[in-house]
Amino acid sequence: MSSSESVQYHGLLLPPVAHTLESLEYAQHFSVEDTDVFGVTYPKSGTVWMQEILPLVLNGGDLTPIQTIPNWDRVPWLEETRLAKVVDRLKSPRALVSHFPYYLMPQSLHTSKAKVIYIMRNPKDVMVSSYYFHRMAGFLEDPGTFDEFMEKFLEGKVLFGKWTDHVKGWRLAKLGDRILYITYEEMVKDLPEALRHISDFLGRNLSEETIQKIAEHCSFKSMKANQMSNFSLVPKKYMDSEKSNFFRKGVVGDWKNHFNTEQLARFTSVIRKELEGESFSLPWSL
Ligand code: A3P
Repeated sequence: MSSSESVQYHGLLLPPVAHTLESLEYAQHFSVEDTDVFGVTYPKSGTVWMQEILPLVLNGGDLTPIQTIPNWDRVPWLEETRLAKVVDRLKSPRALVSHFPYYLMPQSLHTSKAKVIYIMRNPKDVMVSSYYFHRMAGFLEDPGTFDEFMEKFLEGKVLFGKWTDHVKGWRLAKLGDRILYITYEEMVKDLPEALRHISDFLGRNLSEETIQKIAEHCSFKSMKANQMSNFSLVPKKYMDSEKSNFFRKGVVGDWKNHFNTEQLARFTSVIRKELEGESFSLPWSL
């Protein structure tokens, strides 16, 4: 499959698999329930991590969902074709993930009481992670050189558009106390503490023992070994773990091993310029 088959929707480039005009329209008209929880990310910011965390937090640490249901059916992507197929099987409270920009979220989100957790990751690490993902995902175009991929990333000619647009839209979202902002970096630094925030936000009163249990099952090592989460069930032609594992490194700051001085200067200046004057600040220095 080549990227020429990529789906374009409202000017956004979307993956050429699992995204169709029908699935995108279905997502836009999706009937959001008050108890729904959305984990929203720009790709490569911790989406699959949320697919492990949310069912555990919502169900008091019950391991059944993460041990028996593949992540894409357990916490489906709002915009993907699987959602329509599994929606009737989702138990309330439902958890979903999405890479959609804020403006593409279903209208019913705005009139519901549903909650959103927006996970943000340093864009330099996002880009590195995405670069390797393009190398292992058979349905995506080869990323070319790191330099070439960086230009595409900065121009937004990558899946789900510009990182800065995604972040701006979601940081300025008018969802009041229905949205929690969290970073990948906070989760790596102290996962139990991040889980306490998430569980408080979702109105769950989890014991310290349950928090520790969830943290253990959501560690990089546990998830990499979980067949229901590590994409080993996906045929090699779509995701080739010999080229790069989906659970690649799971660390903060791998960009330091990839950016040279010129690339860092260019990347930083473009991102800073695009966020100039915004009413929010980034949680890390670029
Ligand atoms: P790396 O490629 O830097 O390792 P997404 O799910 O949004 O596609 O994000 C994928 C990134 O999240 C990958 O980053 C992956 O390793 C990382 N990740 C997934 N689960 C993780 C975990 N439990 N701990 C740390 N990083 C995790």
